[in-house]
Amino acid sequence: MAVILDGKELAKKKREELKEKILKLKEKSGIIPGLAIVRVGNNSASETYVHNKLKACQEVGINALEKHFLGMESEEEIISAIEQYNQDENIDGIIVQSPLPDNYNENYVASKVLGAKDADGFGIENLGYLLSNQEHVLAATPKGILNLLDAYQIPLEGKHVVIVGRSVIVGRPMAIMCLNRHATVTMCHSKTDNLAKYTKEADILISAVGKPYFIDDEMVKDGAVLIDVGMNRVDGKWFGDITPRAQEKASFYTPVPGGVGPMTVVTLLENVYELSLKRERKDR
Ligand SMILES: NC(=O)c1ccc[n+]([C@@H]2O[C@H](COP(=O)([O-])OP(=O)(O)OC[C@H]3O[C@@H](n4cnc5c(N)ncnc54)[C@H](OP(=O)(O)O)[C@@H]3O)[C@@H](O)[C@H]2O)c1
Repeated sequence: MAVILDGKELAKKKREELKEKILKLKEKSGIIPGLAIVRVGNNSASETYVHNKLKACQEVGINALEKHFLGMESEEEIISAIEQYNQDENIDGIIVQSPLPDNYNENYVASKVLGAKDADGFGIENLGYLLSNQEHVLAATPKGILNLLDAYQIPLEGKHVVIVGRSVIVGRPMAIMCLNRHATVTMCHSKTDNLAKYTKEADILISAVGKPYFIDDEMVKDGAVLIDVGMNRVDGKWFGDITPRAQEKASFYTPVPGGVGPMTVVTLLENVYELSLKRERKDR
């Protein structure tokens, strides 16, 4: 029978461990990890995500603040706020919450976050480190997935990992992280011909497409490990990319909700803590 990869439970344990570490850091050096989140415009999903991040930070003892721009300000005003946080000794991590409204160049604005404070790990500098196999700050979703696989002692070395989705926040960094762990990696996307031919060969299948029940049982092999990144809200209910029928064929699978999502949040908090250790070491 398929085993559920319980991200919710593991994330809870990790939050407790992190809370302890943050307390110890404060006792030892007076440092409280700090996170600044820059949000622009009124995207309601972003508002919820930021709210959840602020709440999660508070729970573990990270000082987090939100700088909210209405979306009428100039790009320079937003960049000026980012530059202030770059200089602020008490801020260890900065996030520019995606998406920005269309009238802003999101990549340009986000590129103003210093590599040493890039809590999301999506910046060019940290992606470059990842690509050259010198991992620094890693994107929270793929790193959280690896932590979940590690916790269940699922090895990557020698395994065929098939990733569906090639976004900069999930698919691409996921592929390189798996490669750095000696997996054989296949990347698929919307222009892939005969997708099922690849997904059926996966020892570990990671779906980050964002379409409800997109991967069905005939697309997966018996005993595969299924990682479902998809978060698709339909009529007020959350659905993953992978069907329950496909999950039945798996050896392990992540539920939605309660799989990858909670791991992403705790991994982001861990990133902020690790960045605050740079402040302690005076290394930024
Ligand atoms: N649980 C979490 O913590 C977490 C974190 C991040 C994202 N998510 C969720 O994960 C999903 C993906 O997010 P994202 O930001 O990576 O999305 P995205 O930027 O929209 O990327 C989706 C990817 O899926 C590919 N795709 C779309 N249709 C396809 C098809 N028919 N066949 C094969 N590939 C197809 C796209 O291919 P092209 O590149 O060719 O367009 C693209 O690479 C969403 O549901 C999102 O909400 C969850």
